[in-house]
Amino acid sequence: RVSNHFPGAADTDYAEEEERKMAAEAFQSVRQQFGRSYLPLINGEYVNTQESVDSVNPSNFSEVIGKVGLISVEQAEQAMQAAKAAFPGWRKTPATQRALVLRKAADLMEQRRAELSAWIVLEVGKPLKEADAEVSEAIDFCRYYADEMERLEQGVNYDVAGETNRYIYQPRGIAVVISPWNFPLAIACGMTVAALVSGNCTLLKPAETSSVIAAKLTEILVAAGIPKGVFQYVPGKGSQVGAYLVNHPDTHVIAFTGSQEVGCRIFAEAATLKPGQRHMKRVIAEMGGKNAIVVDESADLDQAVVGVVQSAFGYSGQKCSAASRVIVQEPIYDAFVRRLVEATKSLNIGEAELPSTQVGPVIDANARDRIREYIEKGKAEAQLALELPAPEQGYFIGPVIFSEVPPNGVIAQQEIFGPVLAVVRVKDFPEALAVANGTNYALTGGLYSRTPSHIQQAQEEFEVGNLYINRTITGAIVARQPFGGFKLSGVGSKAGGPDYLLQFLEPRTVTENI
Ligand code: NAD
Ligand code: ALA
Repeated sequence: RVSNHFPGAADTDYAEEEERKMAAEAFQSVRQQFGRSYLPLINGEYVNTQESVDSVNPSNFSEVIGKVGLISVEQAEQAMQAAKAAFPGWRKTPATQRALVLRKAADLMEQRRAELSAWIVLEVGKPLKEADAEVSEAIDFCRYYADEMERLEQGVNYDVAGETNRYIYQPRGIAVVISPWNFPLAIACGMTVAALVSGNCTLLKPAETSSVIAAKLTEILVAAGIPKGVFQYVPGKGSQVGAYLVNHPDTHVIAFTGSQEVGCRIFAEAATLKPGQRHMKRVIAEMGGKNAIVVDESADLDQAVVGVVQSAFGYSGQKCSAASRVIVQEPIYDAFVRRLVEATKSLNIGEAELPSTQVGPVIDANARDRIREYIEKGKAEAQLALELPAPEQGYFIGPVIFSEVPPNGVIAQQEIFGPVLAVVRVKDFPEALAVANGTNYALTGGLYSRTPSHIQQAQEEFEVGNLYINRTITGAIVARQPFGGFKLSGVGSKAGGPDYLLQFLEPRTVTENI
């Protein structure tokens, strides 16, 4: 994990016995903390709430990971007032000092890496290696955005004789961060620290199913020295507290990652001026995908099969970047499907905590039931090529592959967010690209090919924010593959890229006649 410009945090090497021992100890320690209560952080105080929710282990839902206090609308208002009071001080805090808080948070995450990974595995059912990579991503976001803010803080001089022209940035004000459960640490952390380092007072409303990990992030930011009121942890119901904060006249920026449905609603609500509101809100909305991998007739099938299996079934397909369609050219179609099915059969399905597990559970009962409905729809419109059995206890779904899927079928168009893969047959490469582009989404995409003209054409015409050639389509690394989509996948902002912080800042030009 090194790059020319930004040295990313190294993932844990579980081949080392010492690392495996530390991981086992971390699981033991985290299990001993199961069932504890986690309270919201408002104006520097952990406050009691009337309502709470149990966060459970999706691999075994009789295990309560933690009880999370859910704030009321009145408490959301208190948090907003505290953020407003803290803003004048935070905006004047030098960028280098704000950056120091992020760097300290990154160091603390390094120190607590094994424990954080264990929380991720147990709260959202992500297999250990992927949870560990997520901790690396969170660390990278802190260090990269700290560097980025120091770069932007320099501003730009456009001086001419007799006149200085300074191009500078100021924070926008109050940022509301609304995060999803599937990257419970990295995405919550990335959006939050970007807002903070840019000088905005920030309220984090995590997804209900991953609020314990967000509480761990809160502990880390507090230990790293974030002042009271500048960062607040406001777990609550999305449709109630989330909507209240989105609609609040004092909110300046909304950084949202989640479903298309909620993202579009937030966009619309944020666009409506509220009484007393004196600014336009900035919305960053990162939404879903219906990501395709094209396999052309020149592809190395050994490579393509492994890449498709990992991209489709890693974290049970619950990544916005996951492959949910494979578009395969006629001459290799049958051979590819045969090999894909055989390779998928070899996956280990089980509790996320087991070292051998490659496919864990899905997040909750709603997700399991929704995915099952899609599987039934798939059976009605395509051929079932594989349906693997899954453990009974926990929210498990075995990987499913459909072949001969019509490009406009439901399972080829709608985001399923589970381990369900649609294989589409096409006659040639232009048709493959047309099918790949034939959805509302434009997030990730992949091509397996050894034909230079196809690679060139895909670079020009494949409508995705992140295009991967001859590799998996998940696992973007900060400052190496800045990540984000367009069309109905998002507003085109790139997390972990050089333009990201600009969204949290207002540019200003100051001209002085000298
Ligand atoms: P979701 O939209 O259900 O929830 C996301 C967040 O929005 C949660 O915190 C939720 O409480 C909150 N929310 C719900 N209703 C709200 C409302 N009316 N107002 C304000 N907030 C509200 O999404 P999810 O199930 O947590 O995450 C899965 C989705 O996220 C998938 O569609 C996936 O593709 C997408 N995702 C996208 C990216 C990306 O970078 N593009 C990354 C990860 C996940
Ligand atoms: N950034 C995550 C990935 O690339 C979603 O898989």
